[in-house]
Amino acid sequence: MSMLITGIKSLLGIETDPVPYVSGKAMSRVQSLEDAWLLMHEGRISDFGPMKELEREGFRKQFPDLKEVSASGKIVLPAFCDSHTHLVYAGSRELEYTDKIRGLSYEEIARRGGGILNSTALLQATSEDEIYEQSLLRVHEIMQLGTGAVEIKSGYGLSTETELKMLRVIRRLRETSPVDIRATFLGAHSIPAGFREDPDRYVDLVVEEMIPAVAEEGLADFIDVFCDRGFFTVPQTERILEAGLIHGLKPKIHANELDFSGGIQTGVKYQALSVDHLEFTGQEEIQCLLDSGTMPTLLPGASFFLGLKYAPAREMIEAGLPVALASDFNPGSSPSGNMKFIMSLGCIQLRMLPEEVLHAVTLNTAYAMGLHETHGSICRGKKANVVITKEIPGLAYLPYAYGSDLIDTVILGGEVMYPDLKV
Ligand code: NIG
Ligand code: FE
Repeated sequence: MSMLITGIKSLLGIETDPVPYVSGKAMSRVQSLEDAWLLMHEGRISDFGPMKELEREGFRKQFPDLKEVSASGKIVLPAFCDSHTHLVYAGSRELEYTDKIRGLSYEEIARRGGGILNSTALLQATSEDEIYEQSLLRVHEIMQLGTGAVEIKSGYGLSTETELKMLRVIRRLRETSPVDIRATFLGAHSIPAGFREDPDRYVDLVVEEMIPAVAEEGLADFIDVFCDRGFFTVPQTERILEAGLIHGLKPKIHANELDFSGGIQTGVKYQALSVDHLEFTGQEEIQCLLDSGTMPTLLPGASFFLGLKYAPAREMIEAGLPVALASDFNPGSSPSGNMKFIMSLGCIQLRMLPEEVLHAVTLNTAYAMGLHETHGSICRGKKANVVITKEIPGLAYLPYAYGSDLIDTVILGGEVMYPDLKV
């Protein structure tokens, strides 16, 4: 299967010399080609160039099945990579949303047994098939919004049996959906009801029973811990990460959402692929992240939805760090996987430039889930995961028109998935 996109107004996010991620000043430089064509063959990006040098006839001879798509007036960019979601869950939590409007904080709701524990109860009461069906709809929804690769966490099970149930649902989604999926085991998402008096006993369960069981079935790529005030401490986090590493699970952790929790330093110490949230980040944390391979990943959707402060993206970029932006799609703190809206929050609330934001939702998030060699840019040999926009003036229009649906076509693995795929 070969496809040629022609007349592209602007081909964005090109890489000729691929790098794992983009940091500091380089984040504001997006490589692009105006009036371009893009050739995809057998699921990969094969070549691209300016329209005036298009070898159409040569391509037709070379690829007799060549399908041609016109993108006149439109922009083509790499499909979004969303490196932090909890999109496998049962039901929804709009009642807590109303409680929040009435004045209860996220932490207060959690203390009263709501929040994550509410999703745990819903998940336990829902069959694996039903959870799969609900989650598949969410995967299709984000795919239609331009996401081509996504990381999904467990963490609403909080018992060995239900954590495995969640991870099996993620595995099924991985096998059946066109979106590329990475799985993270997040048994340490919250302390379940029976363990409140002795949280270390729950950590024992995570370390001694859950991690070996998850590894035995090969259900996860990464391990995560909610290392924050009121959830898991640094010593507990370290125990869990060490056990995960023994079983080949690389860390990607929740850190510094609610306080200066020490989570960022812990993530760096254990060579986490990413530390995520980071609303509470100061100079010490920034220094610690510099020269590490750990991707600072910001989740502005959670700050927006919970009315919390935003992470200091500008300071991070000025200091030379890379920044990734993910959706955190989950029922409690960010019930949306719309990465275009995350781009808008990046610009409006984090004061990132549209060019910086583009890197933050493509290549840098690809890195944050170990996919940078195959995803996140328009690069010869990478997977043909691209988005064609509607007719728009330029890149900045995407985050600017924050409520408009500007996604025209989503191509994954070189095949049109939206709008052709009827879901
Ligand atoms: O990333 N912060 C911890 N976990 C999720 C929230 C999950 C929930 O409230 O259901 C987050 O925001
Ligand atoms: Fe999260």
